[in-house]
Amino acid sequence: MAKTVSHFVCRTCGGVQSRWMGKCPDCGAWDALERYTPAPVAREAHRSIADAWTESGARAGDAEGAGSTASAALIDGAQPIACVEPPVHRRIGTGSAELDRVLGEGFVPGSVVLLGGDPGIGKSTLLLQTAGRLARGGSTVLYVSSEESAFQTRLRAERVLVPVGAASADPAAGAALPGLDSLLVLAETDLARVAEQARRHRPGVLIIDSIQLIHRGDVSGAPGSVSQVRRCATDLVYLAKVSGMVVILVGHVTKDGQLAGPRLIEHMVDVVLSFEGERHRPHRVVRAVKNRFGSTQEVALFAMTERGLEDLDPSLTRLDPSAAPRPGTVVASVMHGTRCLLVEIQALVAGTFPGTARRRVSGLDANRLAMAIAVLEQHLGLALGDQDVFASAAGGLKVVEPAVDLAMALAIAGAARRRTVPPGTAVFGEVGLGGEIRPVHQQELRAEEAHRRGYRHVILSAEGEVRLPRGVEATRVRTLADAGALLGAPLQSTPAPADGDTPEPRGTTRPRRRIESARRA
Ligand code: TYD
Ligand code: MG
Repeated sequence: MAKTVSHFVCRTCGGVQSRWMGKCPDCGAWDALERYTPAPVAREAHRSIADAWTESGARAGDAEGAGSTASAALIDGAQPIACVEPPVHRRIGTGSAELDRVLGEGFVPGSVVLLGGDPGIGKSTLLLQTAGRLARGGSTVLYVSSEESAFQTRLRAERVLVPVGAASADPAAGAALPGLDSLLVLAETDLARVAEQARRHRPGVLIIDSIQLIHRGDVSGAPGSVSQVRRCATDLVYLAKVSGMVVILVGHVTKDGQLAGPRLIEHMVDVVLSFEGERHRPHRVVRAVKNRFGSTQEVALFAMTERGLEDLDPSLTRLDPSAAPRPGTVVASVMHGTRCLLVEIQALVAGTFPGTARRRVSGLDANRLAMAIAVLEQHLGLALGDQDVFASAAGGLKVVEPAVDLAMALAIAGAARRRTVPPGTAVFGEVGLGGEIRPVHQQELRAEEAHRRGYRHVILSAEGEVRLPRGVEATRVRTLADAGALLGAPLQSTPAPADGDTPEPRGTTRPRRRIESARRA
């Protein structure tokens, strides 16, 4: 008999080791390695669920919308690439413009999508809403809830899927859910039962919420263990390919290492979406970490409301270009995928004891904050060594692109010196370690968005050609010192800036002269 070799797999990152270790050498997680013995292949007891599907006559293309030959090659053997026929529907629209954007115009039949995120962030809510919209659009959707009972799922549906103004007259009877006859709910954790129900109902979309509670009876280990998650995911991927169904898997990102995380199966699936956001703030971002059928540049923006997740219109974020500017607050034009958003960057500088100064960020990159502080000290002469510095991006959207550097630096300088940028100003630019301001990509688009939102003045790098929209005043700056000179007079008892110290918004001459003299010195 062949000797079975087992190895150890990390529940967090999926790294494989030949012996047990307390700490995973790949990701640093403690107590996360689990013994994993691959199942011997051609043994009767381990026949794949998906193989059973094919043998039962449910051939490729049975799922609606998949067409007849979508995955025939998987069964029929090799064929010339030009002979591969496309499915009837190339894409299945999700009914949410934001979700379609991040997927690249909807789901591809026969694909597997993994949606990962922290518990409680809104994965089930998003998928139930998507399932409802697909069902109302005529698709059959099988929503497998392995964590909640069917009734709990119905209760959630009553919150997020009831048409506006269609509240039931009798609250005890629950709200009516019209148009959802083809949304099927199954509270089940056994993969064999799930496959059997999928075979019976032939859904176009199968949602597994979550993969970490699904198990196979003939595989060792508790649900959520490395062996169960891997094996069940492999079967579901194969099922999607042979049937043409879209399979959506939910995976919780876990920090305590008790459950195998979504990273373990990222390589098997076609699309990996990551759900981000802070639980106490309404904004949520769904980002494509991997997408075999589209760009990973795009993000979907949602707002969590009492009626579930709604597509977020970026222009609804509260910003008032006519309001008097405050020290420590600068509006930045930030790209999220191919879209530009205006985000308020805030900074607070507060005195503390030398050696205990804290630097904290919320929604910004801590390394870029540290760099901005160092450059401000070097090139603007700010003494921040005995100051706590806090910086945040308002609204709860995470902003990590370097284009936000200049706004962050100006917010900190403004907070430290009690000065403000001119009213109605938006800022974008990367700060180099030499204090130079570098141009960033999509400068025209950033200026256009600022103009559209009522910001008539932009501060950006002096380098490179830019065609700015009409009506936008631009101040091009070469160095952080140039930009710092644009901050008004210190705010004291009178908020109006003293004219001697306030350069015109267009005033590029004076800072340039300063640089020239600095260079000569
Ligand atoms: P949920 O979808 O259950 O999260 P996950 O599946 O990722 O674990 O979302 C749970 C949170 O969403 C919960 O804390 C409450 C909030 N929520 C709303 O704010 N509005 C709603 O309509 C719903 C259904 C949930
Ligand atoms: Mg959930």
